[in-house]
Amino acid sequence: MPSITSLNLAHLHLILNHVPTVGSVVALGLLLVAFVRRDEPLKYAGLEALFAIAVLTLLVYMTGIGAHQLLRNQPELSENAINVHHDAALAGFVVTEFAGFVAWIALWQSRRRGRAARGLVPAAALLSVLALALMGRAATLGGDIRHPEIRTDVAAGDAAAADDSERFVTRRISAYMVNSTWAWPAAETVHFLGLSLSFGVLLAVNLRILGVMRQVPFADVHRLLPWGMLGFGANLITGMLFFIGQPKQYIDSAPFYWKVVFLMIAGANFLYLTVFKKGAAVDRWDSNMADKAMAVSSLLAWLIVLYAGRMLPFIGHAF
Ligand code: HEM
Repeated sequence: MPSITSLNLAHLHLILNHVPTVGSVVALGLLLVAFVRRDEPLKYAGLEALFAIAVLTLLVYMTGIGAHQLLRNQPELSENAINVHHDAALAGFVVTEFAGFVAWIALWQSRRRGRAARGLVPAAALLSVLALALMGRAATLGGDIRHPEIRTDVAAGDAAAADDSERFVTRRISAYMVNSTWAWPAAETVHFLGLSLSFGVLLAVNLRILGVMRQVPFADVHRLLPWGMLGFGANLITGMLFFIGQPKQYIDSAPFYWKVVFLMIAGANFLYLTVFKKGAAVDRWDSNMADKAMAVSSLLAWLIVLYAGRMLPFIGHAF
């Protein structure tokens, strides 16, 4: 009997799974029109869309793994078809996250210097085209899972073949994470370093917004943001390795859900500090009530993320 939690994740996956493909088309459309019209605000909107898609794709990927856990013992579904889809989704996921990261750097640079470094916006657009192609393939293979009527001959043969986990990249990653003596502890170490970097940077920036360390120019703490984003990226990679390694222990764990929800809120702080208040240059940032409310909510969200992460083994029975 599936639990309510798994059921919700499968439903969520079906609701969200077209976001990476449809979203990339919208973002690329905005960037194309911005390029033709030489329209800077529209270019920023395209970059912001790429970043938002990268964040939402994280949920698409995780809910997909949740759906897999729920459906894995259903005899009418082919485990091979799901694994082929998962491998394709991983490739699309990696490139989508990278496109979002490059878009964020371009936004951050535009905010500080008035424009992004040459080539950065085209690089984000090209990565997004690649992500769209890979996600389109992943989505087609996702459709194959429940729709034999649209399968190609190759996919049909694949689905009918015996389960052969060795040939799937994601299954090999999972086995390696669980069986290797060093992979899990090494990823844990990087995860804690990434967490310290991310939290440390956002703590400094948000405390400065709240009026602490007034003698330090705001532009100087704001300059640290890419380091915080780097820590966030390290945590994304190692966190996904844990999740692919042992999905069930997280899917069945309440603190894991708190952690993901508050991580999204904490992550939104990066976007706020990069995108909003476009009128004000960073070196003339003057905190208003909205900035302060954002700073307080971000710090609270981070504390909940830390607490939920620490409680995973105690409340959620994950190690
Ligand atoms: C992040 C990129 C992903 C995209 C774009 C994507 C897209 C899709 C699409 C379009 C479907 C077909 C829905 C339908 O039949 O109407 C689907 C189903 C499914 N996906 Fe994904 N998916 C992604 C990631 C994943 C991952 C990482 C997994 C883990 C194994 C996964 C597991 C599944 C499962 C089990 C189904 C069948 C759900 C059902 O029919 O109840 N997906 N996906």
